[in-house]
Amino acid sequence: VKRSRVLGCGSFLPAKVVTNADLEKIVDTSDEWIVQRTGIRSRHIAADGECTSDLAIGAATRALEHAGITAGDIDCIVLATTTPDNTFPATATKVQAALGTRGFAMDIQAVCAGFVYALSVADNFIRMGQATRALVIGAETFSRILDWNDRTTCVLFGDGAGALVLEGYEATGTSADRGVLSTHLHSDGTHYDLLYVDGGPSSTRTVGHVHMHGQEIFRHAVTKLTSVVEEALVANGLEAADVDWLVPHQANRRIIDGLARKMKLPPEKVVLTVDRHGNTSAASIPLALGEAVQDGRVRSGDLILMEAIGGGLTWGSALIRW
Ligand code: ACO
Repeated sequence: VKRSRVLGCGSFLPAKVVTNADLEKIVDTSDEWIVQRTGIRSRHIAADGECTSDLAIGAATRALEHAGITAGDIDCIVLATTTPDNTFPATATKVQAALGTRGFAMDIQAVCAGFVYALSVADNFIRMGQATRALVIGAETFSRILDWNDRTTCVLFGDGAGALVLEGYEATGTSADRGVLSTHLHSDGTHYDLLYVDGGPSSTRTVGHVHMHGQEIFRHAVTKLTSVVEEALVANGLEAADVDWLVPHQANRRIIDGLARKMKLPPEKVVLTVDRHGNTSAASIPLALGEAVQDGRVRSGDLILMEAIGGGLTWGSALIRW
């Protein structure tokens, strides 16, 4: 059977760091409130003129280096973002031009679940033989759609990008247990209004700001993530105890801890970056994975479980054998 395996990964963060103390000067908030409710201590924020494509190109360049291949070897880019440079064309095409990749390039919109969606799309192109080597990118400048006067949302998010290089291979025997084992996607549009940006080209012609029913999102997050994680494990005949690394979407420390507790996963198996990155939406999973690979935690043969939930609602999970 045709499968996709991971050749490399890379990530990129804007240089500017904004701490909770910095936010105390802008809105009526406190480091104590933010840390206690979310686990976030600081986040990176893109400079003026630094676009989602710039972050994506940075992450993709590092992923190609790590994979030991060149841009010309890539024939597919799937880029997840909620904050594209322009309404169209797809930001992925800007990345394609900058890197010089072949084939085709497209954006995916599933907000915080975007990376799992993009991974699923790229994996399926590879399984069907429509792509050979794919760049899967999550990149966001979420700071651009925040209302910096709204303390209930502006403290939660950050900017950044991460990328994975996938390659198709013919999986036989023990090699069949490597790479992307499965992906699982869900959405439920009846919850459209729980988390959204007001406005857009078709409704108001201008882009507004993030609005969120935080407690409702929290409630859906823990139950839906628990079930989509279980779905991935059952599909592969695995149990929570088989997972070497949980690489979750980094929205909120309490959501991550809640899921890990339900799965009975010890904290040392959970990759956490939310304290330093905040919620970077589609970028959070590849940013966290990049860190755990870079510092040597993730080793060949490790089982990695990814999960995310975001606006839509959209949610999903993925299992990768490294
Ligand atoms: N600083 C200080 N006080 C604040 C702040 C702030 N930044 N934000 C809100 N408050 C106040 C509120 O006004 C409220 O005050 P009141 O009691 O006087 O009315 C009080 O804190 C409590 O507010 P709640 O909204 O009830 O706080 P809660 O404990 O629910 O925490 C939070 C809010 C952190 C947003 C929580 O609901 C949550 O984590 N939700 C999940 C949402 C999430 O992570 N979304 C990310 C996008 S979706 C995703 O990626 C999964």
